[in-house]
Amino acid sequence: MPLYHKLGNIPPKRHTQFRKPNGDLYYEQLFGTIGFDGMSTNLYHEQRPTQVKEIKGSYSVKPKIARANNIQSYRFRGFQVPQIPDFLESRKAVLTNSDCTITLAAPTNKTQDYFYKNTDADELIFIHKGTGKLRTILGNLDFKYGDYLLIPRGIIYKIDFDTDDNRLFIVESRRPIYTPKRYRNWFGQLLEHSPFCERDIRRPYELETNDEKGEFLIKVRKQDEIFDMVYATHPFDVVGYDGYNYPYAFSIHDFEPITGSIHQPPPVHQTFETDAFVVCSFVPRMYDYHPDAIPAPYNHSNIDSDEVLYYVDGDFMSRKDIAPGHISLHPAGIPHGPHPGTMEKSIGQTRTEELAVMVDTFKPLMVTEEAMKIADEQYYQSWLD
Ligand SMILES: [Fe+2]
Repeated sequence: MPLYHKLGNIPPKRHTQFRKPNGDLYYEQLFGTIGFDGMSTNLYHEQRPTQVKEIKGSYSVKPKIARANNIQSYRFRGFQVPQIPDFLESRKAVLTNSDCTITLAAPTNKTQDYFYKNTDADELIFIHKGTGKLRTILGNLDFKYGDYLLIPRGIIYKIDFDTDDNRLFIVESRRPIYTPKRYRNWFGQLLEHSPFCERDIRRPYELETNDEKGEFLIKVRKQDEIFDMVYATHPFDVVGYDGYNYPYAFSIHDFEPITGSIHQPPPVHQTFETDAFVVCSFVPRMYDYHPDAIPAPYNHSNIDSDEVLYYVDGDFMSRKDIAPGHISLHPAGIPHGPHPGTMEKSIGQTRTEELAVMVDTFKPLMVTEEAMKIADEQYYQSWLD
């Protein structure tokens, strides 16, 4: 997040002596991205963060592919993904390519007895159901329905849920996830025409500093494998940090819709960008106000991107038989558009209450075996008269 943040205690000058009350030195760590060219954070530990005690083994979490080359439109019933106690075991990858993986999860355990670190990907976790606290090495964030949690790669975290009823839509991205550049000035400040501003970005507020030694399991994801690494010091032992690379939260309910007199294209809904896909938020808004406007979208050709829509809540004007938790996949190469009758029905309506998250990928997505378990195989024929 190109927004400076500081939490806890740090010395006035970087890379200088910073001492504990007993005179010992704190251990500095520069946490950088994209070599030394991307955003970074400078943090100070109670203990050396390098004390690996044991690597207990590893196991693959690589998605199993059912359809590598897909041209069929699908609907997936996301809430049919089973509730599974453990957070990591509950994660079911449904769509994937070499840039990103779209995952559904319904964990029921309120917490984990391990820490987790994804070194492969930034994680964008959309909270469809559930409340709780994201706890990280760089401080904590409370979350609730409608929040996006952006966890940059390498951030050690765990999640405390308040109840066992949780539904998560997760985008794992091997490309860094940013907010759209076109909404920023040359200093990085969000411009007046941006659908959100700095006040909407929630930064970590509560730093946990545990100066403990013992055995601490961190499940480290690297190249689609999870390594069980035991560290000799508590991973949340940071006394302070500053910089630009940290997790943050943004609520979809804080996205201010951009509307027009005729139908506005998907980029007005854009919330996040990478060089491999975009993420858009469709939120309750006034419909187009030209006297002859057709609020439903026109047919459009996805000639070079796969379109994934995750339906969150409200009504969905262009689709029939869509419920919360459903995912539609409209693959590149063929056009798609409103279901029969929905275009006519939209005329004269003034407002929509739809709430949805869209992911448009520039490379085709592969359909996983987990996705096929919740797939509607007839969906692609649902535009026939
Ligand atoms: Fe579309």
